[in-house]
Amino acid sequence: MIYFDQAASSFPKPPVVAESMAHAVNAVGANPGRGGHALARQASGIIRDTRIKTAELFGCSNPKQVLFYQNATVGLNQAIKGLSWQKNDHVIASAYEHNSIRRPLEYIKEQFGVKITYVDNSKENEGGSFVKAVEQAIESNTRLIAMTHASNVTGRIFPINDIIALARKNRIYTLIDASQTAGHMSIDMTKQEIDMLVFPGHKGILGPQGIGVLLVEGKVHLSPIHHGGTGSFSSSPNQPKQLPEFLESGTLNTPGIAGLYAALIEYEKRSKEIVPRETILANLLCKGLEAIDGVTCYGPSSDTFRMPIVAFNIEKVPSQEVGMILDSHYNIAVRAGLHCSPLTHEALHTTEQGVVRASLSIYNTEDEVTEFISAIKEIVTSYKEF
Ligand SMILES: Cc1ncc(COP(=O)(O)O)c(C=O)c1O
Repeated sequence: MIYFDQAASSFPKPPVVAESMAHAVNAVGANPGRGGHALARQASGIIRDTRIKTAELFGCSNPKQVLFYQNATVGLNQAIKGLSWQKNDHVIASAYEHNSIRRPLEYIKEQFGVKITYVDNSKENEGGSFVKAVEQAIESNTRLIAMTHASNVTGRIFPINDIIALARKNRIYTLIDASQTAGHMSIDMTKQEIDMLVFPGHKGILGPQGIGVLLVEGKVHLSPIHHGGTGSFSSSPNQPKQLPEFLESGTLNTPGIAGLYAALIEYEKRSKEIVPRETILANLLCKGLEAIDGVTCYGPSSDTFRMPIVAFNIEKVPSQEVGMILDSHYNIAVRAGLHCSPLTHEALHTTEQGVVRASLSIYNTEDEVTEFISAIKEIVTSYKEF
């Protein structure tokens, strides 16, 4: 089969990921930070090494500020709900947010009377004017800019450095959702002055499902959204004040974290590529689709640096129907519909039809891209004859 649904969850993984997880389950097994015996120390070592490697690869100044949750969504919830909100505080997000940012924002709006501006710039590729629109949206009470680093629907990369510069100038915190960029392009919290960064293990990093990371830089103070056992200061009724325990309650996903560690080591090896292999393939795919009469592509053109995601439609055919044909007749996996990102579809005017999203990883090949383009040509022809 051809698996072009990498933006939902990457497959396959580097073999070392499963090996490392199996080792954690079969040879370590104990609870990290919950005992002084040898196996508990080994489990703690896995967690510690992964915090250190994550901090190193993402430019976080202190490994203790690397926090593990079960996915990116929980990390984003912790970042957004963990700030202390007052009525009429203001947040800026883009009109391209995944529901994992949008819903926590809508929650704080309802709960605390926070105001939200979703900045739209439907004319993609106009990075400059998007930044201007964000600048115009800033108010004296804007406290947070929460923004996806790249659209999970179109692969468009947002000009976060310019936006962070605006945020710094206006003393606004930044939260960057790197769910679709981590593992595909370099991110350095210190150099880029990002306050909070979130990514899942199971997408571009090529790690397992069940692990997500929130990295927090120095000046941000978050309150925990969960409370409970931390393996430390057990006699206190309150959450220990120091990180990571303050913001991490309950037993961690040690096998998932072991898998993440192995995936990070693999990522480190390919992280020096200037344009990642998967982006080159995605642009090839985009170019092939752009040339087909009857296909509409959305997002960056084939000569633009993008994340390895290509969104398109065939005439007025419902995207789900195209997805089903690809699955049942061609054994090709894509994701069709709204991709948990209804705001994006409003901006693209594709709410009714959705879009077909093909997303790639380092394990996809040029032959698969060629086969995919042929399949789309055949489908287009069959609808024209119909
Ligand atoms: C941009 C973006 N943010 C957040 C998420 C949520 O990731 P997870 O399901 O791992 O929590 C996704 C997943 O598709 C995403 O694409």
